[in-house]
Amino acid sequence: MSKEELIKGLNEDLAAEWGTIIRYTYQAGKSFGILGAELREIFEEETQDELGHAAFLTDVIIDLGGEPTTIPRQFDKPNNLKAMLELDLQMEQGDIENYLKHSKMAEDLGYVELKMKLEEMAADEAGHARELRRLIKGL
Ligand SMILES: [Fe+2]
Ligand SMILES: [Fe+2]
Repeated sequence: MSKEELIKGLNEDLAAEWGTIIRYTYQAGKSFGILGAELREIFEEETQDELGHAAFLTDVIIDLGGEPTTIPRQFDKPNNLKAMLELDLQMEQGDIENYLKHSKMAEDLGYVELKMKLEEMAADEAGHARELRRLIKGL
């Protein structure tokens, strides 16, 4: 395993974050009614977390000598609220797995701060996943 592989992994994480920022913004716009009003607030709040993650990954990739991606990962656009939230939950869970995988890579390469920060970001996504599960339960 090499630094290049780590940079590649972090760039996949970054593309996922850009995609999530766009997805949550898009979904906030598509959230109607009383439940939609609450959802919009949650999406806006979580978008700020994802923006922080994207900014951190951008800085780290540059620091490692890589070129940070500006291309978001594409996402599905389900029509109903439940399918939308289930998609979000699935994507947050995938992000958790990827951050933990890449934190292990960072540890193996001796990047202690990066390892810890990626674990922290996995924990942020786990918080988002918990919030989504609560919302889905109420539907
Ligand atoms: Fe994130
Ligand atoms: Fe998230």
